[in-house]
Amino acid sequence: MYKTIANVLTFALRRRSTGILWAKFRLRLKELGKSEATEAREWAASKSEDAASFMSKLDSNLQNETHLFVQKVVYESVPTVQQLAFKGIDLGGGGSIDLIYFLCRFLKPNYVLETGVAAGWSSYAVLEALSENEKGFLDSSDLPYFRIENPEQYIGILIPDRLRNLKNWDLQTKGDTENLKGFLRGNKKYSIVHYDSDKRKTSRLDFLKRIEPWLDNKAVLIMDDIQDNLAFKEYVLSRTLTFKVFEYEGKYIGIIFQVDSLNPR
Ligand SMILES: C[S@@+](CC[C@H](N)C(=O)[O-])C[C@H]1O[C@@H](n2cnc3c(N)ncnc32)[C@H](O)[C@@H]1O
Repeated sequence: MYKTIANVLTFALRRRSTGILWAKFRLRLKELGKSEATEAREWAASKSEDAASFMSKLDSNLQNETHLFVQKVVYESVPTVQQLAFKGIDLGGGGSIDLIYFLCRFLKPNYVLETGVAAGWSSYAVLEALSENEKGFLDSSDLPYFRIENPEQYIGILIPDRLRNLKNWDLQTKGDTENLKGFLRGNKKYSIVHYDSDKRKTSRLDFLKRIEPWLDNKAVLIMDDIQDNLAFKEYVLSRTLTFKVFEYEGKYIGIIFQVDSLNPR
């Protein structure tokens, strides 16, 4: 507990971190007492479908490939996860890497954006898929977990050198607000976006609005933990968007499709 407080203070005392922490604090105050979690969870559960049958309807061979990839990652990651656990560090993540890998292989995107890297389960899935596709770039936005000592060293720790060496990964760690200023430039259009960083409602809605002009016309947007609040529900219903919801380990992932052809019934 004392160590966590000390780590938070160390982070806060760094000049660029003070603004980020202050912004987080203000948002938290704003959303205090407005928990929508119960309604959001019930809605997500009522919409939830089976991710495995979604994938097999689109491409059953690719689903088998995805299954092998997930087995490999889990097997490879055991020593690192154990070492982190030994130090009392749990970076979370990893729930939906099958879906992320599958969609990146299926859509063969030129550009992928993800927010929230932590240990790098999702980044690993994207980078492996892009490597198999032999094309594509990944932009990743993160903010170090300031409750951990020297958190930067753990960002993307699971990603093997063979994927880092491909040099198609741009990892920025100044928080989404800052990082997106660098990413959202020029003629770039993202085909896949995975949002798994700041889970507050206002942050999600701000992000969704900000990313709209940067999506290509077949883009797929994946949002983690939609059971936390009503951001995803309100967004998809207000724009009558095509979407799906999947359950992963008691949490819910939402996917928004720009075109209906990627939405097998
Ligand atoms: C659930 S973890 C991401 C897990 C990751 N996608 C995976 O599959 O391993 C959330 C990450 O988002 C980061 N984060 C929190 N707020 C953020 C913000 N405002 N901007 C960027 N990253 C943020 C956290 O520090 C953490 O690294």
